[in-house]
Amino acid sequence: MTRTITTVEDLRVLAERRVPRMFYDYADSGSWTESTYRANEADFAAIKLRQRVAVDMSDRSLATTMVGQPVSMPVALAPCGIVGMQRADGEILAARAAAKAGVPFTLSTMSICSIEDVAEAVDQPFWFQLYFLRDRSFNDRLIDRARAAGCTALVLTLDLQIMGQRHKDVRNGLSAPPKPTFATLANLMTKPRWCLSMLGTKRRSLRNVVGHAEGVRDTRSISSWTTEQFDPRLSWDDVRRIQDRWKGPLILKGILDPEDAAAAVNTGAEALIVSNHGGRQLDGAISSIAALPEIVAEVGHRTEVFMDGGIRSGQDVIKAVALGAKGVFIGRPYVYGVGALGERGVTHCLDIIRKELDMTMAFCGRRDIRTVDGDILHRPRGSSPQPGLVERRPRPLGPARQAG
Ligand SMILES: Cc1cc2nc3c(=O)[nH]c(=O)nc-3n(C[C@H](O)[C@H](O)[C@H](O)COP(=O)(O)O)c2cc1C
Repeated sequence: MTRTITTVEDLRVLAERRVPRMFYDYADSGSWTESTYRANEADFAAIKLRQRVAVDMSDRSLATTMVGQPVSMPVALAPCGIVGMQRADGEILAARAAAKAGVPFTLSTMSICSIEDVAEAVDQPFWFQLYFLRDRSFNDRLIDRARAAGCTALVLTLDLQIMGQRHKDVRNGLSAPPKPTFATLANLMTKPRWCLSMLGTKRRSLRNVVGHAEGVRDTRSISSWTTEQFDPRLSWDDVRRIQDRWKGPLILKGILDPEDAAAAVNTGAEALIVSNHGGRQLDGAISSIAALPEIVAEVGHRTEVFMDGGIRSGQDVIKAVALGAKGVFIGRPYVYGVGALGERGVTHCLDIIRKELDMTMAFCGRRDIRTVDGDILHRPRGSSPQPGLVERRPRPLGPARQAG
């Protein structure tokens, strides 16, 4: 029997039961000791809210915009690789749920369903995430394909030119589709629902890549292609070149340092995402929520600042907004939703977060998400800012620091 789903944690528990070990572990892990993965969640828990009473809590609104586009709440689905291995056609299911909920869905370059698959199956526009690859003509074609499919923003990921090691992925021999080893087959036998759903789809490899990238005709060559293709020489000039080709709203993902934030803004990007890739890259980096206030102070007056990493509830969303985020992205919460219950799981995830965000905003004495600011955070009288967090100090408007 499935227990009633009331939290994102419930979705995680159900996903762990239903998704093959290799793909569940791929989602629920961080790099090396996982200290940054843990810090992302723990630092949210350390932030406390101010409870207010005898204030009008009626007629509340969570609606706002992200890169100028209307959203029903300031939450977008982050780009996540191989969601179509959590459940058959996972990216399409997540994109449909996001469209119905009025929030953006971001399709990863490393997705199972291709840009064209999602565009065909979902009637709302979505966002596309690009990795910077050595094969520039493939890179350019991806940008052109995203534009042709009607994508309304491009998210360029900057923090994965080399890959942090996740021990579980090494031990599990992660591949998509899974290689038929004894251990994998034994595990798959315990996941009949997953196996059946996979038999019912033709989408089982990285379809943005296979047949599109030079020399990739089948999935066996993908892992070598990926290792060889991420370009470790990425520079701010390359970012500008991508912007020149794309021309639409560009969001730079993976900024954790105020100096990089200033350089990112100088490329002309519309927004940036404070992110440590969900604790999957630099183990030992600070949490995203701890990095957010300084970055907002540095560039918040010149660009939209989003954040991701560790959001597991609507309470976390409002804390990020209070510290200056114009919006947030969620990764694992919706990936667990896909693995647990497909489209319904993502809808559950977004409903849970929306309800928590709405009620929490009311308890904090606010009725409109656009009015939420640092005043809703509890700070004991005479105390310094909350542990790990730097006070938000907007800088005066003035000439930008030159990009490094
Ligand atoms: C399973 C998984 C796959 C991911 N794949 C990508 C990816 O392909 N591209 C990317 O930019 N970020 C990727 N990320 C990072 C997410 O976009 C996001 O930064 C992170 O998940 C946020 O942290 P959270 O999972 O705690 O919400 C991935 C994260 C997870 C959990």
